[in-house]
Amino acid sequence: MRVLGIESSCDETAAAVYAASGGLLSHAVHSQVADHAAYGGVVPELASRDHVRKLPGLVAGVLRDAGLEPADLDGVAWTRGPGLPGALMVGAGFARSLAWARGLPAVGVHHMEGHLLAPLLEPDPPAMPLVALLVSGGHTMLVQVAGFGRYRVLGESVDDAAGEAFDKTARLLGLPYPGGPAVARLAAEGTPGAVRLPRPMTDRPGLAFSFSGLKTAVLHAVQAAGDDPQGRADIAHGFQEAIVDTMAIKCRRAVAQAGSPRLVVAGGVGANARLRERLREEAEAGGFTVHYPSLELCTDNAAMIAYAGALRLAAGERDDLDFSVRPRWPLAELPVPEGGEASR
Ligand code: KG4
Ligand code: ZN
Repeated sequence: MRVLGIESSCDETAAAVYAASGGLLSHAVHSQVADHAAYGGVVPELASRDHVRKLPGLVAGVLRDAGLEPADLDGVAWTRGPGLPGALMVGAGFARSLAWARGLPAVGVHHMEGHLLAPLLEPDPPAMPLVALLVSGGHTMLVQVAGFGRYRVLGESVDDAAGEAFDKTARLLGLPYPGGPAVARLAAEGTPGAVRLPRPMTDRPGLAFSFSGLKTAVLHAVQAAGDDPQGRADIAHGFQEAIVDTMAIKCRRAVAQAGSPRLVVAGGVGANARLRERLREEAEAGGFTVHYPSLELCTDNAAMIAYAGALRLAAGERDDLDFSVRPRWPLAELPVPEGGEASR
């Protein structure tokens, strides 16, 4: 089965072709970062318009790279949500029209299920069951994964997502959008231990996260540091350590609670080098293994959508023609695939 995947939930336009035998045949991502940078964040209308402009060329490109014609496809997968409504509609309309015109089955994929499954696209993928730490611009959650489609959310953020905390901290530090990579770069120049920020919700049991208080702590530290460049680097360092430490503590707990020997980390913040390093240490000390997608499959991409879609199509899921997008879509509302046993 050869499936075209289309991703347009936020500010990346992406297309990919995944084959059940052969794996990922091609994928391409166009980042809109330059279009939104001047505004300090994603402007939804600009995002939608750029998806309209870029999607046809990207799809033609990935088909060419895979050596395929549209007639060679067996299905189309697209991101149904969560994400920006207008941006999602562009991918949905394109994918559903193409599928209809070619008489192909189509399936709308949950963006976070895509992230969750991305580590399985790597060589030597981890077996299930496992625990997934999903950390993106809009979500921070720990998920117990019994098998494909069998997910139980163990804990999530009660306010800001980890990526959002990076982006807001970047803004407070006067760094450009997107904030994650910029904060990480500045953090490398900071003095370890110079600024210590709180590790929210680690002093009590449970797997929930909260990052909005951290943002306030950053604000106060920035006001105290004034224009001192070293002071700002120290804040970036202290912030990154606080986020990474908080996630490491919760991951250790989640793995113990789930009795799982495997942790996968995915979503844009999963690209953070310090987080990867710290979780590797945690895994070594805690007797579990940790698995990451490559950097290009960690941030938004369509390979993960094509892959998740291929699994759902193989399990018999199909969209009707009266499809809709789900800008807000709790992971717990995903259908359990045929033959899978509900674990929630
Ligand atoms: O998964 P993703 O590409 O898009 C969403 O689904 O949201 O995640 C984007 C988020 C942004 O908040 C961005 O600042 C953050 O991931 N991010 C990082 C890094 N690279 C991207 N955060 C920390 N360190 C990074 N290296
Ligand atoms: Zn994402």
